[in-house]
Amino acid sequence: MDTHDLTKDVWRIDAAEFPADGSIEKRARFLLRYAILAPSSHNSQPWAFTVDGGSIEIHAAEDRWLDAADPDKRELYVSLGCAIENLCIAAAHFDLGYEIEYHDDATPISVVTLRPDAKPPSDRSFGLFGAITERTTNHLPFEATAVSDALLEQLRACVIEDDVSVRLVADPELNESIAALQAEADQRQLADSAYRRELGYWIGTGALGDSWLKARIGQAVVSHLNVGSREAQKNSKLVRSAPIVAVLTTDSDAPTVRVETGRSFQRLALAASAEGVAVHPMSQILERPAMRAELATLLDADDALPQHLFRLGYAAEEAGHTPRWPLEKFLVERT
Ligand SMILES: Cc1cc2nc3c(=O)[nH]c(=O)nc-3n(C[C@H](O)[C@H](O)[C@H](O)COP(=O)(O)O)c2cc1C
Repeated sequence: MDTHDLTKDVWRIDAAEFPADGSIEKRARFLLRYAILAPSSHNSQPWAFTVDGGSIEIHAAEDRWLDAADPDKRELYVSLGCAIENLCIAAAHFDLGYEIEYHDDATPISVVTLRPDAKPPSDRSFGLFGAITERTTNHLPFEATAVSDALLEQLRACVIEDDVSVRLVADPELNESIAALQAEADQRQLADSAYRRELGYWIGTGALGDSWLKARIGQAVVSHLNVGSREAQKNSKLVRSAPIVAVLTTDSDAPTVRVETGRSFQRLALAASAEGVAVHPMSQILERPAMRAELATLLDADDALPQHLFRLGYAAEEAGHTPRWPLEKFLVERT
């Protein structure tokens, strides 16, 4: 039986407790406390880890896969990439070298092997460790303040995976077209009862951060009423308020390329957080294949595959962190 409850206590990690003189497996487990603070679609936290010495296998937890919203597992793999990036940033912070393998057609999707005698990769020293416990997704309207070119360059430089490109859309006309697409995507997704039921379920767990009562009311409303028009209006306004809409694109939909997309996104999100820039992923356009293709056309990138879309800008602070399940829930013994 699963006895773990969602908690916000996981956000309070004392880095001074890192067991620098402990076994490599103890160190690996400590690093995973940072991995689980990663963002994930609906806060589904779709990861599982098997630790053996310094070897950390990262598995997709299919029982937390959003099969209605994310039938081709794009968001699942992007979320895993976010967790892997937190893990690697934490390893580098504690001066641990590591190697990373990806497996497209097998589980685990990735293995991170800690190499205590090696130096961390030098191209990964973005100094983002402190932002891991500070970052939140920001769902609020953004202010009409531009993000400076210098800062945009800094964020662009976070995308270092060869397979991943970033488009930063500042053009108001293009922003308006994306806002219209967002409204249509919301209408379509929320007209789908399976999508509504799944979203309602996740709201009901409290994973999205509401109190128990608010979560249960939210679950009932979303599961049983067609709230599409309201969401469409709200979300298209959110897009319009954003000085930048960012889209990560790739040439392939391979699972590991999506994992790499997640790593790029998380690095960029942490850099943004460190600079006080708000970040808000919005997935509905990408969840509808025809609309995803329309987005590529709008971006004048017919050959590129949009993998992740998010708003960037300035906003008031979110009320606080969303909860996570404790690390123990995600640790799986090798069978
Ligand atoms: C792949 C992916 C897709 C996401 N899609 C959305 C989205 O469509 N709308 C939204 O409000 N948040 C979206 N999010 C943000 C998550 O809801 C958020 O990460 C999660 O609730 C945990 O909260 P936190 O990021 O504040 O820690 C997405 C995050 C990821 C990684």
